[in-house]
Amino acid sequence: MQRNKARPMPHSDRSLQPVNLPADWAPASWRARPAQQLPRYPDEAALGGTLDELRALPPLVTSWEIIALKQHLAEAQEGKRFLLQGGDCAENFAECSSEVISNRLKVLLQMSLVLVHGLRLPVVRVGRFAGQYAKPRSTDEETRGGVTLPSYRGDIVNAPEFTAEARIPDPRRMIKAHARSAMTMNFVRALIDGGFADLHHPEYWDLGWVGHSPLADEYHQMVASIGDAVRFMETLSGSEVHNLNRVDFYTSHEALLLPYEEAQTRQVPRQWGWFNLSTHFPWIGMRTAALDGAHVEYFRGIRNPIAVKVGPSVTPDQLLKLIDVLNPDDEPGRLTLIHRMGATNIATKLPALLDAVRRDGRRVLWVCDPMHGNTESTANGYKTRRFGNIRSELEQAFELHATAGTRLGGVHLELTGEDVTECLGGARELTESDLERAYRSTVDPRLNYEQALETAMLIVRKQSQLGAPATS
Ligand code: PEP
Ligand code: CO
Repeated sequence: MQRNKARPMPHSDRSLQPVNLPADWAPASWRARPAQQLPRYPDEAALGGTLDELRALPPLVTSWEIIALKQHLAEAQEGKRFLLQGGDCAENFAECSSEVISNRLKVLLQMSLVLVHGLRLPVVRVGRFAGQYAKPRSTDEETRGGVTLPSYRGDIVNAPEFTAEARIPDPRRMIKAHARSAMTMNFVRALIDGGFADLHHPEYWDLGWVGHSPLADEYHQMVASIGDAVRFMETLSGSEVHNLNRVDFYTSHEALLLPYEEAQTRQVPRQWGWFNLSTHFPWIGMRTAALDGAHVEYFRGIRNPIAVKVGPSVTPDQLLKLIDVLNPDDEPGRLTLIHRMGATNIATKLPALLDAVRRDGRRVLWVCDPMHGNTESTANGYKTRRFGNIRSELEQAFELHATAGTRLGGVHLELTGEDVTECLGGARELTESDLERAYRSTVDPRLNYEQALETAMLIVRKQSQLGAPATS
């Protein structure tokens, strides 16, 4: 396999190691490749004007944050950290509100507390938010009652209402998405900086509606035991342990809408190469991961840590070629592979991929998304997922990695802090008739607070059953 095809570049203090600038790459070089899942904007001039405006706006994240995350992911690859990546399937403009953002943060903080406590590892927290506005769709068009319209592709592209006007791709939505992402990020940063994530005050993360959760006792016992440990350490050291009062939080989204991503791709002073400064950690969705496609072309040139969704149709050979293109220098922290096979497929599909990557000595972070391979429709027309299948895929993932001698270094989940009823099962045993009560997603069904917390608990249980993960 051809490697090191390009000019070596000097590396700065903040680089992890010198790597090569990809040959023949530019932020717009994806435009020469076949692109899937991109909308057709009817007004080219309006699109061009919007992209110029976007290019002039300030970035949402910084290169040093991106490089810090890459370092954390490199440590996760070595078994020294665990990645928790979660949030909505899609954010929408209407729900860019204080309550939705802080509730989602609360759930992620509670889950990470459970994971830190149970796995005895630092957790890398990455939200699916502040930019998760574009959605791939299985068909370009949708037909209802004999009327056919373009599919809804997320609020950054068009609106979900089933009218001809709502479904026209509107470039101005990119400016709105950028602004909403900035507001979300600003609020999250302010909360974290203000002490919201302080381990001395886990009560800040309590969600009002969960007072009688069947999981509450277990969670509160854990919080109490952490509180004891914190007080013990503080008594020993005679002072407050300050690094417990803040945590790092990073953002991620599916970098699907390439014109938007290109406009956010920048060079920065005292750094070589190009960064996508709209998010720390973009990923390529399953439907756009073709080796010769536009998305892979775009991703190979940016310096962010990146992830790729790996579905059941990917072969070991295809995966190795993809790794070659996306991480030719085997750079630590660069590449995360998120497998999403489905509970019924994972045992037959995953082992060959794990073996191929291990045998070839490729450095990747393996992460399990137990959501997207387990989507189904109920008789009453809801798109849902069964908690039992999500649990089963996750448990099998841990076992399959243990058997293959590889390491499952994280999870990728769709969840919300709202009291929704979108996935079946879980501690409260939600049934098909419960779905009618609070089904709010316009795209995929999300775990609610209890189901999300239960998932964190089951990860801990499974990992301890298999023994602590080996660190290298
Ligand atoms: C998603 O993460 O919302 C998604 C569409 O996933 P996938 O690309 O794995 O289907
Ligand atoms: Co989804």
